Amino acid sequence: MKNIVVLVSGGGTNLQALIDAEKSGIIKNGKITCVISSNPNAYALQRASDNNIDTQVIRRKDYDEFVAYDKALTELLKSKKADLVVLAGFMTILGHEVISAFENKIINIHPALIPSFCGEGFYGLHVHEAALKKGVKLSGATAHFVNEVCDGGPIIIQKAVEVKTDDTPETLQKRIMEQAEWKILPEAVSLFCQDKINVINNIAVISD
Ligand code: GRF
Repeated sequence: MKNIVVLVSGGGTNLQALIDAEKSGIIKNGKITCVISSNPNAYALQRASDNNIDTQVIRRKDYDEFVAYDKALTELLKSKKADLVVLAGFMTILGHEVISAFENKIINIHPALIPSFCGEGFYGLHVHEAALKKGVKLSGATAHFVNEVCDGGPIIIQKAVEVKTDDTPETLQKRIMEQAEWKILPEAVSLFCQDKINVINNIAVISD
């Protein structure tokens, strides 16, 4: 059974999808053992404690230097014996130490079809504003491993979602969460926990 540690900063609907998926057996061979928030007021922390999951808070602003923060987060994850780290709306940039300590063991969910609408500055509603501005007819979500390139790690699962003519960034965000993010993030986590993802030359290869 793999230990899953989830990093959050906000509402935690993706965390909730993971908790529900663990309960219903969609996540095989994995257990969420800790939720770490960058924000002490995140509602995601409440969702974790409602489900008897250990919670921790680590704030970037409590460290003068980024390297000290990076080291502290790495140590915290190691102390929690994380086999898999999931970024579920975590708003703080990860550093070299944590990324190299957990190579191909950190999964992020991005609310667009990478390589569209991703990279620096593409977070939250900005992603959906850009998709609507471009007039794409499909957007969606991507579950991917995290490497040192922002939104550039190996792609695990993608799911397309229709864009409607009367969409606002908010309505598109909601449809992408409901139809894509909350489904593919637990699926990607389950594949990882069953050792079904192999990364070869920066490509994630999924086995049955
Ligand atoms: C989601 O849109 C996710 O794609 C992005 O951050 C948002 C988190 O929302 N990375 P929530 O906290 O899971 O509700």
